[in-house]
Amino acid sequence: MKIIASNFKTNHTRRSTQEFCTTLESFLNTQKNPNKITIFPPTTALLDNTFKHFSIGAQNAYFTQCGSFTGEIGLEQLHEFQIQSLLIGHSERREILGESQEFCAQKFAYFARQDFEIFYCIGESLETKNKGLDSTLVFLESQLKGIALDYPKLIIAYEPIWAIGSGISATLEEITQIHTRLKQKLGKIPLLYGGSVKPQNVSEILSLDGVDGVLVGSASWEIQSFCKILENSF
Ligand code: PGA
Repeated sequence: MKIIASNFKTNHTRRSTQEFCTTLESFLNTQKNPNKITIFPPTTALLDNTFKHFSIGAQNAYFTQCGSFTGEIGLEQLHEFQIQSLLIGHSERREILGESQEFCAQKFAYFARQDFEIFYCIGESLETKNKGLDSTLVFLESQLKGIALDYPKLIIAYEPIWAIGSGISATLEEITQIHTRLKQKLGKIPLLYGGSVKPQNVSEILSLDGVDGVLVGSASWEIQSFCKILENSF
């Protein structure tokens, strides 16, 4: 079994998410799908997490039941949709929204206490990558600070920033090198790769040792493309 996750980011409306999910459910009804699939729509398009073949997760939430956190949603809003999965630490939230490691760790601790499945992202910039493997690994470890690696519902996604949205994924050698080293630290925690995964490369990426799944952005936003990704990962 592999884990295939789709991150819609700031794409799709509620209506188009509904259409996407209905089509996906029909597609998966006709397939023998051995994989675990999670869709992360934008917050305004969260749907009841009641599909048979995949789960709906949230791209973001604040570490609170409810309260005064303008612009955020908390546990109460997620529970309304029976959402039990959350993305934390995506590079766009770290870099653009300024989420610090401490903030990610606080979010993690809260939602781990709530028994959420947590897709926790790490990934280095091109500048860090260019400093070499050792610096990259030190950086990636710093992004795990404060994260309880023995949490049973933790999934880690390695997403090098330089490969995200660029259309050019890390090479198979690069993925293998980092995943092998990360696995030494992470043990049995499922480790996904993300960064320009698409129908054409998903199968070879998933066949690598140490890759337990993929987190897909742009190539998952069109339902046909996402179904191709799934077909190529069966
Ligand atoms: P991408 O995005 O597939 O468009 O590179 C991946 C991600 O940011 O999760």
